Formats: sequence, structure tokens, C-alpha cells
Amino acid sequence: MEFPFAESYKIKMVEPIRKSSKPERETWIKQARYNLFNLRSEQVFIDLLTDSGTGAMSDRQWSAMMLGDESYAGASSYYKMKDAIKDIFGFDFFLPTHQGRAAENVLFSVMVKQANLIPGNAHFDTTKGHIEFRKAFAVDCTIDEASDPTLVHPFKGNVDLEKLESVLRSNPKEIIPFIIVTITCNTAGGQPVSIQNLRDVRALANQYGIPVIFDAARFAENAYFIKIRERGYANKTIREIVQEMFSLADAMTMSSKKDAIVNMGGFIAMRDPELYRQASVYNIMFEGYVTYGGMSGRDMNALAQGLYEGTEFDYLETRIRQVAYLGEKLSGFGISIIQPTGGHAIFVDALKFLPLVAREEFPAQTLAVELYLESGVRGVEMSTLMADRDPVTRENRFPELELVRLAIPRRVYTNNHMDYVATALAKVYERRTSITRGLRIVNEAPILRHFTIELDRYI
Ligand code: F0G
Repeated sequence: MEFPFAESYKIKMVEPIRKSSKPERETWIKQARYNLFNLRSEQVFIDLLTDSGTGAMSDRQWSAMMLGDESYAGASSYYKMKDAIKDIFGFDFFLPTHQGRAAENVLFSVMVKQANLIPGNAHFDTTKGHIEFRKAFAVDCTIDEASDPTLVHPFKGNVDLEKLESVLRSNPKEIIPFIIVTITCNTAGGQPVSIQNLRDVRALANQYGIPVIFDAARFAENAYFIKIRERGYANKTIREIVQEMFSLADAMTMSSKKDAIVNMGGFIAMRDPELYRQASVYNIMFEGYVTYGGMSGRDMNALAQGLYEGTEFDYLETRIRQVAYLGEKLSGFGISIIQPTGGHAIFVDALKFLPLVAREEFPAQTLAVELYLESGVRGVEMSTLMADRDPVTRENRFPELELVRLAIPRRVYTNNHMDYVATALAKVYERRTSITRGLRIVNEAPILRHFTIELDRYI
């Protein structure tokens, strides 16, 4: 008889959560202008808005916090983080930042100029935002397989080498400051990039003399998929795989709120001392002095510890199996999700789920609202609202897929919660043909609009 799967941790502290009634939720979502970001967290029962900064820290992380050194310059916590980064990624230089987009802001202030092209697999929205804010262009070179939600491919986050090479070949080197590879690729559904693909990107980059940067928010989840899916890696440890992955990059930006399992924090790490020197100037201006850059000493301690915990196989197996568990439940109800399930979230195909809602009425946002109304479960739209308008034409950009993301916080919910979520979505699925109209925009910001957008119902 085989053992059932069991988590690689036990629970030491709990936080109560509260169910609500449907009439309550009707009022709250209306007050929130049909934007789930505007809800108060007490109005949410199970919060799958994001896996970013929402993880549960371990007893070891909390105890590391007590040893935080809050010196303005040269804190021991800074050196702890520096040692962990060198140990895990192999980079000699790093700058702490308050989170991932701050790392992008600092690094791109040095590297991205107007009219530049930045190719890579699908860029995350803040990455794209920081590129477009500088009047440069993000060029999505993800493999075509990624846009077929039901196609099973082990590394749907891969960069299409032909697409990449065509960008490199047909443009002067001076306007391509770097290639960015997001591991795992959040926008493509939390899908991993194979180490072979990273190697191939590196080889092309070398050929054209262009640096490679990893957007590394979920690097450990990516390494887990390499271990279990890529030939030759089954017997390597996650840390060995991570070492090998990062030997292929010149620099990285990190949102530590994901795979370093802290509530706040980020960093940039690099090999080149000159890039470090230039980025330091912006770090001091935007974030803080180079040895704290927007983080307190205690948070840097927790982050250093989190990098080690986040790269343990048992932890990763627990986490990624929970995501797969929710995916299997939803598939069992006949709900279309991106296959195979990725590292941090389930992505529900809203076009299949709500075929009667026009794209101009935002089916994915409509579904996220319906799920909340049904159950108090909060997910997030990852589609037309998130894609912003075209910077030139100002028209809505309709991505190939309309997705609702259900992101699973790390070490927070049990599989009973996953069952609840699956049932909630199944209940909406049962009445899907009665949902024919969606939402319209009442107010929106010019960039990163989905965070603050105000919507209303058609009926
Ligand atoms: N890169 C990726 C791949 C991300 O997923 C995120 C954030 C960032 C960069 C920016 O990092 O939030 O620390 O500033 N993703 C969150 C999410 C917000 O919900 O997926 P940040």
C-alpha cells in the first residue's frame, strides 16, 4: 500500500478567516466597483489574489527576524543576505530593494532607453510597465505552444529561439540592452523554462553580444520542474539546478515575496561591478542606501533564511502538488484550465467558461467577480484589463487567452481549502449559461490599470 501525500511541515500558529453571506458580498463587490483589489481582506474567505508576499514564514524565519541588525550601513543582515545570494545564485554583487518592481525600476533606469527592444518570454505586467514607461518595447518571444491552454508541454515558458533570433538579427545591437527570461513564466501560466532553453538563449545572447537577465521571482519552482521533467536532472538537488540555471545569466531581478517566502522584499544581483556601481546610484535615490535598499534588517534576515527553505525539495514538492491537486479537482468538474498546471497558480480559461460574454465585456473579470459572489474566494483577472491599452493606439489589447488566476499562497491553505475553491467554481460553472453580460469600464489609469480600475455591470 502506498502512503498518501502529506505536507512537509506542521502548523504552529493559525489566523481565523470568516465566511460571509451572498447578500453581504453583493454589497461589498458593488462598493469595490467590481474590482477585487478594492475589497477589504475581511470580506474574503479564501484569498487567491496572489502568491506574492502572502506566504507563511517559518519558525526559523521568525527567529531570524529577532536577530535583525537595523544599522543604516553595513548591517550584519545585509551580509547574511549577500552570503545567501552568493551561495545560492553565485552572484558577487547585489542590491536590496523593497520588492520586485523596485528592482526592475532601478536596473532598468540604468539599462533601458527610449525605443529599446527587450525580448524574452512573456513579460510580467510590472516588467512590461517599467519598459513601456521608458518608451521602450517588450517583445514577447514565448513559444506558440504556450497559447494553447490544453496542449500539454513540459516547458511552456520556453523562449522561441527563432522568434528571439529574428529580433536579434533584424535590429542593431545598440537598441537591445538585454534579453529577459521570466522563470517560471507567470504570464504564460506559471509555466517553467527548461535548462536547455536557458542554455540556448545564452548561446544566442553570446553570439549577438547581449546580456541575459532572469526575472527570478519563482526560480525555485522552475528548478523543481527541471528536476522532475528534464532528462538528466532527476538526481540533482534543487540547489545544484539553481546554480546551473544562474550560471547562464548576467544578472537577476527578484521579487522575494514569492520563492524567498517573505512578506516584503526584493533584490537585483549581478556579476558586473560596473553595472553594480551604476545601479547603486539609482538604488540610493529610489530605494535606500546600498546595504538596506528599502528593507529592514530583520526582513533581510528572513529573506536569507527563506532562500534556503524555498530551495528545499520537500517544501517545493508539497507546494507544487497542492497546486496540481486544485487543478485535478477543477478538471474533474469539466472546467478548462491551462495544462499542465504550473508552479504557483491555476489559470482558468474564461473564454471556455463564459462563452456568452463578449471580450469587450471582460469575461475573465466577470468570472472572477462571479466566483467571489458565489463563495468569497478571491482570484484575479489576467487578461485584457491587465494587458493595458496599446501605448501607441490606446486601444484595448486582447491577449489570446482570457484567464482567471487562482494563486496559491505558500504554506497557508490546506487541501480542504482547495476543495472549497473547486466546489465554488463548479457551482458557477453549473449556471454559466445564465451569465451573458459582463462589465464595462467606468474609470481607469493610463498604465497598470487593473489595480485601480472601476467597473460596472451591464445588467
Ligand atoms: N516578476 C514576476 C514574474 C512577478 O510575478 C512579479 C509580481 C514581479 C516581477 C513584481 O514583483 O510584486 O514584488 O513588485 N507578481 C505578483 C503576482 C504581483 O501577483 O503575480 P513585486
